[in-house]
Amino acid sequence: MSCSKGRQKIEKFFKFGSNSENCIVCIPEVLDGNYGMYVWPCSPVLAQYIWYQRSQLKGKTVLEIGAGTSLPGIVAAKCGATVILSDSSDYPQCLENCAASCGANNLSNITVVGIKWGQFTPELLNLQPVDIILGSDCFFETKDFEDIIVTVAFIMQKRPSTEFWCTYQERSSSRSIEYLLLKWGLECTEIGLETFEADSPTLAESTLPGNHTIHMYIMKKKISSDS
Ligand SMILES: C[S@@+](CC[C@H](N)C(=O)[O-])C[C@H]1O[C@@H](n2cnc3c(N)ncnc32)[C@H](O)[C@@H]1O
Repeated sequence: MSCSKGRQKIEKFFKFGSNSENCIVCIPEVLDGNYGMYVWPCSPVLAQYIWYQRSQLKGKTVLEIGAGTSLPGIVAAKCGATVILSDSSDYPQCLENCAASCGANNLSNITVVGIKWGQFTPELLNLQPVDIILGSDCFFETKDFEDIIVTVAFIMQKRPSTEFWCTYQERSSSRSIEYLLLKWGLECTEIGLETFEADSPTLAESTLPGNHTIHMYIMKKKISSDS
């Protein structure tokens, strides 16, 4: 553990894969009240899915939204994707944390940008088309749900084949985004955690997933039957 500018820092290590083929990631966390300074339980689950899909990641352009400590984006970069990390432009310390995760893994070719969900800033408007959007535990405050979907749907307009891979931690069974998907023309498929060996309280040598109920979804632009 180290201390910088009066704030304690710790490093967490995650190991995906086996002894013969693996991906080891170091994530610095800052002991701070901000949500984006810690690795959340959804994050190793999404990163494990990325590791499972690594053969299709090579050469793809991947954007992580609400990245915080950026574990999924870092794994995507280590699997050969061109990665852009983003968090809210309102939280510069989270953007610094995204950059710190790149540094801790010797990844110098990752871009970090401020993208606030629901805001059509130059950073979003000028964003290059991406193949995959990643979102780990972004759906945690219901007030943000539509802004996230609007941002994702906007990015998908640039490349209609773009997929949104996201993990969601169940905090209330009454929450739903079904009406938002319908409103913004998206469809969603749930991916069983057992299909990529993520249905365990321990993952990537981390106990973070614990007993939380986590879901993995892939969202796509709905192709209308009359188009
Ligand atoms: C629960 S944390 C998850 C962080 C990280 N993805 C993980 O799973 O470890 C939610 C993240 O969303 C970011 N965030 C919150 N509101 C946002 C907004 N309006 N636009 C973009 N990012 C936002 C926070 O800064 C934080 O990094």
